[in-house]
Amino acid sequence: RGRAMQCSVSVGLWVVVTAMVIVGAEAFTYLKRKFGPDPIITYTNPSCRSLPRHNEVVCEGLKSLEEVTSLVSSEQLPQVTTLTIAHANISSFTLDDLVSLTSLHTLMFNFSYVKNWTAPHLDPLPSVTTLLLNHCWDNNMLKIIEKKPTLVLTSQMLSYVPSLEELYLVDCFLMQPEKLEDVKHLRKLHIIDGGVGCDSSNLWLLDWFESGRASISRNTTCYIPTVHDMATLFSLSGRELLMWLRYKKETERECVAPCNCSVTGIKENLDPIIHVDCQEVGLTELPIIPHNTTRLTLDRNNITNMSLLFTSELYHHIDSIALNYNRISYMDGELYYNYIKNRSMDIIIKLAYNGLKTMPVKIMKQVHNEAAKEGKNHLPMFDLSNNPWNCDDCSFLPDFQELVYYQNYEMDPSNIRCANWTSTAGQQVVKLDVNSLCAPDPPLLQPLDILNICMGILLLMLIFNFLHNFVQYKRHGKLPWIITKLPCC
Ligand SMILES: *[C@@H]1O[C@H](CO)[C@@H](O)[C@H](O)[C@H]1NC(C)=O
Ligand SMILES: *[C@@H]1O[C@H](CO)[C@@H](O)[C@H](O)[C@H]1NC(C)=O
Ligand SMILES: *[C@@H]1O[C@H](CO)[C@@H](O)[C@H](O)[C@H]1NC(C)=O
Ligand SMILES: *[C@@H]1O[C@H](CO)[C@@H](O)[C@H](O)[C@H]1NC(C)=O
Ligand SMILES: *[C@@H]1O[C@H](CO)[C@@H](O)[C@H](O)[C@H]1NC(C)=O
Ligand SMILES: *[C@@H]1O[C@H](CO)[C@@H](O)[C@H](O)[C@H]1NC(C)=O
Ligand SMILES: *[C@@H]1O[C@H](CO)[C@@H](O)[C@H](O)[C@H]1NC(C)=O
Ligand SMILES: *[C@@H]1O[C@H](CO)[C@@H](O)[C@H](O)[C@H]1NC(C)=O
Ligand SMILES: *[C@@H]1O[C@H](CO)[C@@H](O)[C@H](O)[C@H]1NC(C)=O
Ligand SMILES: *[C@@H]1O[C@H](CO)[C@@H](O)[C@H](O)[C@H]1NC(C)=O
Repeated sequence: RGRAMQCSVSVGLWVVVTAMVIVGAEAFTYLKRKFGPDPIITYTNPSCRSLPRHNEVVCEGLKSLEEVTSLVSSEQLPQVTTLTIAHANISSFTLDDLVSLTSLHTLMFNFSYVKNWTAPHLDPLPSVTTLLLNHCWDNNMLKIIEKKPTLVLTSQMLSYVPSLEELYLVDCFLMQPEKLEDVKHLRKLHIIDGGVGCDSSNLWLLDWFESGRASISRNTTCYIPTVHDMATLFSLSGRELLMWLRYKKETERECVAPCNCSVTGIKENLDPIIHVDCQEVGLTELPIIPHNTTRLTLDRNNITNMSLLFTSELYHHIDSIALNYNRISYMDGELYYNYIKNRSMDIIIKLAYNGLKTMPVKIMKQVHNEAAKEGKNHLPMFDLSNNPWNCDDCSFLPDFQELVYYQNYEMDPSNIRCANWTSTAGQQVVKLDVNSLCAPDPPLLQPLDILNICMGILLLMLIFNFLHNFVQYKRHGKLPWIITKLPCC
């Protein structure tokens, strides 16, 4: 028994140790993937080879551009027109290092670290008109979900390549490329693949795109640098850059003061998520908002009429509207019905602290019932707290109570109370005994009452008849007519 015990204990130990080793190894590879050095660079011994076509040379594993001069034969150097630097670590880039390549017009960096662009001093320089940066970077700062090294790009850097006309950025990640307006000689900027930060400072790229000065491929994404792996549901990161820029520009154009508008995401169906904020700015009616606005905050204004929400095409994409602390006293049921039937059911309407006395509860109920019948799992939500509800209105109260009872989101039933001018002032609507408050008035005569009255009358008639017969008999000795007819007497 003891041996068996020992055996099982040691087996258990082994299992635990093995499990720990496996978990540790997993964690190690995970951490390595997450924080380890960037894998794209693999240094080889520096070497150059020439390609058969067009005097092209490819150099790999360089630590400095100067090395080209020693790795390519001096007869070939003046003939090279296209130079590709791949898998290199160039920590100082200046055209001075390429001064002996007199015919050079196209310079490419592939999968390379290229930093510290410095001004050339020699003369004449090779006339490099085309520069291509493919999968290049100069810092490792960026940690997005998948760690990406980024590249800084400024006008000054480009001025160090004075004859540059076309710049290609292939699969590079640029956080905030500086507006390249000053680089007069640059005719065209090509952005292919890769990404650019989702930052409004990058809107100039769209202007360049629209004027034909830049071409941006559809697979170029915009990203938000973040140290967390927190994947927000409708994150902008990884969405098409051009789409985001267009949404951003359009929204800024349509944003009317004093509201603030921002594109905060892109939905699965590629519609934008646009937030508009107009809190406490003294509005008295619903404002003009950008098309496709999805979230609107209008708290603490003096708005009295919310009809525009249901009628204006601008409000058709609203998912959430906050109208707390306004002066709304009425919601049109018919408009609400038409609006809600004609769009997604997923909407939150916040109406706390307004002047609402009633709601079109019959129609709200109908909307719920029809949606339930159609199997829709999103229903419109309301926040109706802190309004002066008219609990004396029995055409409203029972349905309203039911609505409050089943509406379990964003609405604390303890804040839904009767107005203080009603007979149930200040009481919670859900706690009212609606059956007795709104019991139908009893009809004046119940059938049983009528029967009782008839019986009473009959009884009285019998008594009168008896008295009459009795008097007749006393005075005239006359028996009642019915007695004379009876055979027994
Ligand atoms: C590039 O070389 C420099 C030294 O010249 C070194 O400090 C740096 O770490 C290298 N960069 C990469 C990405 O290997
Ligand atoms: C950049 O390169 C120049 C030479 O081209 C060098 O003098 C300078 O120290 C470098 N700067 C940095 C920050 O590496
Ligand atoms: C360098 O990148 C360009 C653009 O992606 C590509 O056409 C070329 O073949 C690459 N050259 C090498 C040697 O990898
Ligand atoms: C990105 O788009 C460009 C042109 O639109 C194309 O050449 C390239 O192959 C695409 N890249 C990927 C990874 O699909
Ligand atoms: C809009 O944003 C600006 C700057 O962030 C701020 O000063 C202003 O109060 C905001 N307006 C509204 C209505 O939120
Ligand atoms: C709303 O109107 C009242 C008086 O009519 C005013 O005192 C208040 O400042 C207004 N609210 C806002 C947010 O403008
Ligand atoms: C609104 O969204 C639609 C896509 O649902 C898009 O076609 C349209 O351009 C957008 N309008 C604006 C002004 O953003
Ligand atoms: C609200 O405004 C609409 C027009 O947008 C108007 O037809 C309606 O009568 C107004 N409602 C109230 C209660 O003032
Ligand atoms: C909403 O109604 C309008 C007219 O009442 C119609 O033109 C539009 O197509 C409808 N939209 C949807 C999504 O049903
Ligand atoms: C009744 O309620 C209103 C606001 O809801 C408040 O201003 C008023 O003071 C209240 N009156 C009493 C008697 O509580």
